[in-house]
Amino acid sequence: MRVALGSDHGGLNIKNAVIEYLKESGIEFVDFGCYTEESVDYPEYAYKVATAITNKDADLGILCCGTGIGISMAANKVKGIRAAVCTNEFMAEMTRRHNNANIIALGGRIIDEPTAVKLADIFLNTEFEGDRHIRRVDMITAIENDTFKV
Ligand code: RB5
Repeated sequence: MRVALGSDHGGLNIKNAVIEYLKESGIEFVDFGCYTEESVDYPEYAYKVATAITNKDADLGILCCGTGIGISMAANKVKGIRAAVCTNEFMAEMTRRHNNANIIALGGRIIDEPTAVKLADIFLNTEFEGDRHIRRVDMITAIENDTFKV
């Protein structure tokens, strides 16, 4: 598995904590920045991680900003991306099991570093359940492609 990571300045601390966990776990990753606490614009990092996934350069993504909200909104504008803001363990598990999310979005001003690592670990180690959830995820894709029929 190859993981793509990105953050703005508001998510840098938790992204760095997640990177340490990935190194310790021997999980391959690519970090698209940012790399310093200088103020930057989160859509750039959302786009880099999202397109790494849609280009199949990475399997799953982890995006971090102050709240996780802005960076998830930007990532979700890329076709094929399902980015989910998660603030607790249940959300991190269920968004893989039911939504087949391919990016978890975390907030450095919302959760602490150990929580970010825990949520990333759950997200990366939980499989999509398939079954009835395939139909629902396919409906999301149909909305994205403007082919949704009510
Ligand atoms: C940056 O100050 C902040 O707006 C950003 O990190 C994020 O929280 C946006 O959703």
